Amino acid sequence: MKAASKAIRPAPAARTPVGVVGLGLMGRSITTCLLAAGHPVIAVTRSVARRGGIRRQIGAMLREMRSEGLLRRDPNAVLKRLTVTSSYEDLAPAVLVCESIVEDFETKREVIAKLEETLPKSTIIGTNTSAIPVTLLQKDTRNPERILGIHWAEPAHITRFLEIICGERSKLANAERVAALAARWGKEPTLVRKDIRGFITNRIMYAMLREAFFLVENGYATPADVDRSVRNDLGWWITLAGPFRFMDLTGIPAYRAVMEDLLPELDRSVTVPELMRRVVDSGAQGVANAKGFYEYTPAGAKRWEKRFVQFTYDIRRLARKYPESSR
Ligand SMILES: NC(=O)c1ccc[n+]([C@@H]2O[C@H](COP(=O)([O-])OP(=O)(O)OC[C@H]3O[C@@H](n4cnc5c(N)ncnc54)[C@H](O)[C@@H]3O)[C@@H](O)[C@H]2O)c1
Repeated sequence: MKAASKAIRPAPAARTPVGVVGLGLMGRSITTCLLAAGHPVIAVTRSVARRGGIRRQIGAMLREMRSEGLLRRDPNAVLKRLTVTSSYEDLAPAVLVCESIVEDFETKREVIAKLEETLPKSTIIGTNTSAIPVTLLQKDTRNPERILGIHWAEPAHITRFLEIICGERSKLANAERVAALAARWGKEPTLVRKDIRGFITNRIMYAMLREAFFLVENGYATPADVDRSVRNDLGWWITLAGPFRFMDLTGIPAYRAVMEDLLPELDRSVTVPELMRRVVDSGAQGVANAKGFYEYTPAGAKRWEKRFVQFTYDIRRLARKYPESSR
């Protein structure tokens, strides 16, 4: 087991019950994060028959956190604080409920409506949407002030990222309450005070993805070439610096000069790239089904999944060594 001093320490506020709705990829890692922080978690799934499998997967993530030094307590004892249910009524004791169901506007609206019907007025409702404006999800709700975007990054039990987004009608005090709690979940939360589709990181990531497709579709580079360049350039500095600090570190005037020439030439298409359509239409989901922009054997895809998790633990350790607040 690695140094326990960096483990997530449960604080009294982190012992209040919280809820999660939707136990797909992210719902399971969010649940793991909240359990590790000390909360009893009530998790709502449509497929309660798969409850045993869900508990096993969350148990495995908790054991992994313990062996990586992120959890001090016995993973089995922590897992006992998890209730998996299909009933929204069971969420009644929760002070905060995070939905993490499929990214579909109507389905999210239906789930938020169900939550409003069953939860006390004081319960904060967080939506883990990737890009639906929170303001749209607040429309026609009874208590829009308690609805926030709570945007996690996968694997949520390891990453430090969390964006807390205020829709037009969210109450800032609710967002600040979640931000204070999130610090106890091992996160470095960002408060997004004004709603915008895609929030911060998805706007920036999709601008990069659009340009990556442009370069490949127009024959400038292959996907492997793009990945190699991005890994070794942006990938090298971005955990340390972020874009603005990086310009400070490397000299601002050059960026202005490059902007003048380069911005007019960057891709500005507004439709899904043809290559993306073809890949998705072929049934590719990525390592989840061993079919993506690269070829995988099933064992190779599994190795990439493990590598992704291991790297996330390693980069978390490295980021802690170089904190944002360093002078
Ligand atoms: N995967 C990521 O890296 C990532 C990152 C940030 C945000 N998100 C967002 O998190 C959300 C979930 O993404 P995911 O990757 O876990 O997807 P996923 O497909 O793995 O899981 C979605 C889950 O929602 C469940 N679901 C669908 N309709 C439901 C309903 N009406 N009630 C209860 N459960 C329902 C499904 O059964 C499934 O288990 C999406 O909004 C996604 O945009 C994902």
